[in-house]
Amino acid sequence: MKQENIGLYYKNVTEEIIGDEGISQKQFEGLAELSKPVIRQINQQRQAGETAYRDLPYKKETIKEIKELAGSLKKTCENFVVLGIGGSALGNIALQTALNPYMYNLNDSHRQTPRLFVFDNVDPMQFASFLGWVGSRLDKTVFNVISKSGQTAETASQFLIIRKMLLDKFGPDGLRKHIIATTDAKAGTLRKIADGEKLPTLAVPDGVGGRFSVLSAVGLLSAAVCGIDIEQLLAGAADMDKKVSDDDFYKNPAAINAAINFHFYNRGKRLSVMMPYSYALKDLADWYRQLWAESLGKAKTIAGNDVHIGPTPIKAIGATDQHSQVQLYREGPNDKLFTFLQVENFGDALKIGQSPDNAPELQYLAQKDMAELLNCEKMATEYALLKDKRPCLTVIFPEISAYTVGQFIYLYEVTTSIAGALFNINAYDQPAVELGKHATFALMGKEGNFTNSLSYGQFAGQIRELTELDKHYLV
Ligand code: PA5
Repeated sequence: MKQENIGLYYKNVTEEIIGDEGISQKQFEGLAELSKPVIRQINQQRQAGETAYRDLPYKKETIKEIKELAGSLKKTCENFVVLGIGGSALGNIALQTALNPYMYNLNDSHRQTPRLFVFDNVDPMQFASFLGWVGSRLDKTVFNVISKSGQTAETASQFLIIRKMLLDKFGPDGLRKHIIATTDAKAGTLRKIADGEKLPTLAVPDGVGGRFSVLSAVGLLSAAVCGIDIEQLLAGAADMDKKVSDDDFYKNPAAINAAINFHFYNRGKRLSVMMPYSYALKDLADWYRQLWAESLGKAKTIAGNDVHIGPTPIKAIGATDQHSQVQLYREGPNDKLFTFLQVENFGDALKIGQSPDNAPELQYLAQKDMAELLNCEKMATEYALLKDKRPCLTVIFPEISAYTVGQFIYLYEVTTSIAGALFNINAYDQPAVELGKHATFALMGKEGNFTNSLSYGQFAGQIRELTELDKHYLV
């Protein structure tokens, strides 16, 4: 099957298009020089096994295991429910929105595979509403609890609610039939629970952090259960792997993407707006926000010096946010780099109807394809931004398929690795997230020590002192 490839279009960040706000030929040459050793370093890290996510497209055993499990689940399961947060949920949501129809969950007569629900929060109203619905459907529902650590309070609390519900209804055997745990292969709280209760499990591969894990069991099981072609997804990622490993800066889309982002960050454009002109791609922008923010927002350089660096990723949706954000984007501060996601072929044409006789002013739309309108809106917005010298990149999807989405995911993962190296920070840790997690444990009454010299109880006291409401300041 001939595959169409996504492309990164970057002319509209150049001096030729946006004048002195853009990148000159000489600056591009400088970025190419700067990137050369970085590309080499990223490729060496990959060879040394330090970036395990790079090998996910080639894990044949995992794919086989997931396809078999998904195949057996599809026979009896009507509702597949993911419990997870951050890197343990955003990829699942993005794949589902991108690759299954908008009405997938509701359209029982067309859908051959289970409904999918992903819970990545602890909102009691949302979860209670779901529990009310699922309570009478538990016999046809499977829960995939995903947590590398098993300690994350949000996922753990959802899991404990579901565990009780299943135990009450079916007893311990029911747990094994209705829960699959995706977690660390050897260590961690969820691994301990799963082993103790003999739950079926899938492994989060060693050395793969949450936000780089969508192409592992973390993201692949729910996708496969819902009929997404995970082999095509991985084939797309593998194809992109060749491109983003290229030593030649000018042929390597991840290197060019990272260098452009780095360049503009250093020139005061510290906000990075991703704007898909496609509803299906909107949650990929959410996935990107986490990848970019957690990987690149860092206090220290690799050597441990203070730096407080990181572009702020923003998600906007075309055409919706033309009526919400674009006023600011054009006339507000010129502090943003825009990345549009554009789809060339949306599939079946959706013709717009005739205008009534008394409204000839709408007749220009009649018989036009809605896809043409959406893509014209993208061009129009880009034109308007360029007129105001705002730099714009576009990732062009010839179509939305498992293959092109796999390419996009891999492109952005490697872009993030290269950007991390350019910014000279560790793109793979998230120390600031950890502090918030532990503060939650403390406030929720966890026992034991947070650090050698501070118990969780004492830590909770410190947190309350700083954050408890002072009524003098409440108006
Ligand atoms: O990218 C990350 O590492 C994080 O976003 C984690 O995925 C998130 O905090 C959830 O962690 P866990 O899978 O351990 O529950």
